Amino acid sequence: PVPLRALAERADLRIGTAVDMAALDDDTTYRRATGREFNSVTAENVMKWEVVEPTRGTYDWSGADELVRFARDRGQVVRGHTLVWHSQLPGWLTAGVADGSIGAGELRGILRKHVTTEVKRYKGRIQQWDVVNEVFEEDGSLRNSIWLQKLGPSYIADAFRWAHAADPKAKLFLNDYNVEGVNAKSTAYYELAKRLRAEGVPVQGFGIQGHLAIQYGFPGEVAGNLARFERLGMQTAFTEVDVRMILPADAEKLATQATYFRGLLDACLGARSCKSFTVWGFTDKYSWVPGVFAGQGAATLTTEDFGRKPAYGAVGEGL
Ligand code: XIL
Repeated sequence: PVPLRALAERADLRIGTAVDMAALDDDTTYRRATGREFNSVTAENVMKWEVVEPTRGTYDWSGADELVRFARDRGQVVRGHTLVWHSQLPGWLTAGVADGSIGAGELRGILRKHVTTEVKRYKGRIQQWDVVNEVFEEDGSLRNSIWLQKLGPSYIADAFRWAHAADPKAKLFLNDYNVEGVNAKSTAYYELAKRLRAEGVPVQGFGIQGHLAIQYGFPGEVAGNLARFERLGMQTAFTEVDVRMILPADAEKLATQATYFRGLLDACLGARSCKSFTVWGFTDKYSWVPGVFAGQGAATLTTEDFGRKPAYGAVGEGL
């Protein structure tokens, strides 16, 4: 079949995948498919803080540099993921906050330096940055992270301002899971985005991760949710789509999975604001799902031996 990338280019869409750098280095089938099927890539882990600054002041950009180079050589854009998150923080940072050796004032400076350093390094090479990731709880209250605890809610606006100063052309995104449809959490994002934009804070996009599970059903009002962010003048994107199921997979579950992928893709294609649709890995061989959700898996477009699943066909047909 025609690669997804070629189909997406006709539809004026960026179709992306998260990239596992170990697989990219070691697995030629994976490497070829990443270049052939996608015109956008996201680092699954190598742009996260724990990877880029494992020791305070000592940086490791090797994985991130390699991905940016891979993308440039293949005419792919890069989504930057992610600058401010409560998870995958370096040990020196969480330990320093916990034992009080890093106080609030110093912490703010550390965050500013992190955002500025990383965004500047890839200035002009990142199309969209996930500036803040997963900052709300399911009920729409702000997540009780070290950032909220030590810096208060202003850390969000600060992060966007710092990122914008470092690369004024990159589109800056909020990003979270369980925000596909209209619910308390996505409404909290809508209200936050509206307020930040009214205050002139440079936030241009709303990223919807799209980690679905067939046993929980397809989210309601996805189109309406995209539309309200679009009315704020924002871009939208699906940033981490996968659709897990309780194992073992069977034909019926795989057919349902296909309709879920297609449902999110159709919502994106139906919204002028949505020009980027990224899957969180494209083969079950390297999917994060089985390691995190016990008993679940088979969440991506192809099997562990890269065989195309019904979901792959459904995405291709949708494009
Ligand atoms: C996951 C990666 O896929 C795993 O390899 C890693 O161990 C943990 O993080 N939401 C996000 C992503 O924003 O960064 C997460 O990625 C999946 C959930």
